[in-house]
Amino acid sequence: MRRLLVTSALPYANGHIHLGHLVEYIQTDIWVRFHKLQGRECYYFCADDTHGTPIMIRARKEGISPEELVEKMHHHHLEDFSGFNIEFDNYYTTNSEENRLLSEEVYLSNKKAGHIRKDTVRQAYCEHDAMFLPDRFIRGCCPRCGAEDQYGDACESCSATYSPLELVKPGCALCGKKPVEKESEHHFFKLNDFESYLREWTRSGTLQEEMANKLDEWFDSGLRDWDISRDGPYFGFEIPGAPGKYFYVWLDAPIGYMASTWDYCKRNNLDFDQFWRRDDYSEVYHFIGKDILYFHTLFWPATLKGAGFRRPTAVFAHGFLTVNGQKMSKSRGTFINARDYLTYLDPEYLRYYYAAKLTSRVDDLDLSLDDFVLRVNSDLVGKVVNLASRTAGFILKRFDGKLSTPYPDDGGLHQRFVAAGDDISQLYESREFAKAMRAIMVLADEANRYVEEKAPWKLAKGKAEAPLQESCSVALNLFRILMIYLQPVLPEMAENSRNFLNLPPFSWQDVKEPLSGITIQKFSHLMNRVDPKKVAALQEASREALSPPPTASANNKRQEAKKKQNQDTADEITIDDFLKVDLRVAEIVAAQSVEGADKLLQLTLNFGETIGNRTVFAGIKSAYQPEKLLGRLTVAVVNLQPRKMKFGLSEGMVLAAGPGGEALFLLSPDSGAKPGMKIK
Ligand code: 2FM
Ligand code: ZN
Repeated sequence: MRRLLVTSALPYANGHIHLGHLVEYIQTDIWVRFHKLQGRECYYFCADDTHGTPIMIRARKEGISPEELVEKMHHHHLEDFSGFNIEFDNYYTTNSEENRLLSEEVYLSNKKAGHIRKDTVRQAYCEHDAMFLPDRFIRGCCPRCGAEDQYGDACESCSATYSPLELVKPGCALCGKKPVEKESEHHFFKLNDFESYLREWTRSGTLQEEMANKLDEWFDSGLRDWDISRDGPYFGFEIPGAPGKYFYVWLDAPIGYMASTWDYCKRNNLDFDQFWRRDDYSEVYHFIGKDILYFHTLFWPATLKGAGFRRPTAVFAHGFLTVNGQKMSKSRGTFINARDYLTYLDPEYLRYYYAAKLTSRVDDLDLSLDDFVLRVNSDLVGKVVNLASRTAGFILKRFDGKLSTPYPDDGGLHQRFVAAGDDISQLYESREFAKAMRAIMVLADEANRYVEEKAPWKLAKGKAEAPLQESCSVALNLFRILMIYLQPVLPEMAENSRNFLNLPPFSWQDVKEPLSGITIQKFSHLMNRVDPKKVAALQEASREALSPPPTASANNKRQEAKKKQNQDTADEITIDDFLKVDLRVAEIVAAQSVEGADKLLQLTLNFGETIGNRTVFAGIKSAYQPEKLLGRLTVAVVNLQPRKMKFGLSEGMVLAAGPGGEALFLLSPDSGAKPGMKIK
């Protein structure tokens, strides 16, 4: 049996997941689920990419340690991924002991084999911040076209690339002061030592053809040694034997694939060495975006080879996401965060839409929002769900939920559906998901034609029972096959379908035997039509959430527009107004019902040593049983004027979201927060 280890690129720990990222995670997840459905041993490993200057700086700005930032984002990322039904076997972190040990091993083995050299480099240094500045942390005028406020490595106006030392009027992005040039000793990986190996590896079926061609260009222009070290302060792993020097984040990031494997192996009684120290135990595949090809197809296999680890079986690159034919844009509301999408729309719509557009090539993928609505509604709701919703009712009402026995004569339809499975499987395997979806929809059309011809709604009016039961049984059988073929893309809908058909978990081979004589359950709703209004609302929310602070006149206009339109949002307040509110983390140490008050709970909140305990009456009884709240952390206002109520004095207010009743959600900080911490 095949064994596969599959990864997606590790997302940086300083940003939220957006629809652009999701192209890759959805693509990989579909591929992994397909292999699992085939019964293969398949592992999907990923992690947060936690090191580097941007993460260190962001944590500094938030007033927390990099470790705290990384921890916070880890939870956030995992929630976003699981919201889209992306199911990793392990989601780890590069800031782990396993990753440190493996990074050291990769470095030391390469060093021992003579693939590391030291050299002195001159770099921009900020004396005020006492740090060397990465290219992206230097701003200045472009040396070619003179455009102001450009990054240190490339001009967004004329697209020129250059070294930060060439910038005109350079300034540190943190403090604005002019950087100086300073020398420092760096460690270089001698990539050129591996040229002939890499040329061969590239052409041995490991890469898509267009990517292999790209690599040829790089070979032709000569491979340069790779600077794998950075000076402190730097959030990362210190290089053994080189105090104050750290591994560049891109050295330890892909090693995170191995660290995630190792952590999983330890917890599941498997042997890490089998996966990464020999090349015949498992296939290894990396899914990546085309922008990080150099790292994955040159540095990565070369560092692995130099250290005696196995190399990947293949690297699959995909293109970028465009929305409505253009780059994602904050001002157009097309830079959409995963979290915002989930507030408005069903994740399986996006999974299907991406699948319907994904190929094995590196082309960009366009999310056209109008097409998205049409495609999902027409294919999934119109063709697939409809098949079940038009026939299940008759089986339930007229035949006690029982399908015909034996399976009726369907003119060879079932057999044709089974036979199509081989092609569909081949298309999944080769990542031609768009073609796979088309093949499945051709089957769905055929199944719908069958239902149209048989017209069970007409049969239901006649006397003969058998034709009605038979035609509906055939339709539900065909529906089941479609759902098995679609399960890698639509795991939730497949799960709901198998529950309604009263079946154990699906496997690809199940399609062979038709169902007969089984009893189905009440038909549960499988998917709503995409509401274009929700798509528009999502775009609007994405636009608002990310727009820059408004100017004074824009502000007035906005306020007026808001007053007219929006009953649901309070008037704007200034930041000073907001800062007057003292919000803190509190622990609920006691909670009880209040006699004579239907909606209230009396809570005792602990705010840590300085503030101590406070009593608060909160209108959350409809949503929470008091005993369930004990020990829970929440967020409360502590400087609210105490209010005398019929039942006692309320000395604060807890925060909850939602319309009320049972749909009320008490806010809670991530784990690690302590009572008394101020909300900033
Ligand atoms: O480009 C990125 O978002 C990187 N964080 C990807 C790292 S993939 C792997 F090498 F770790
Ligand atoms: Zn500075």
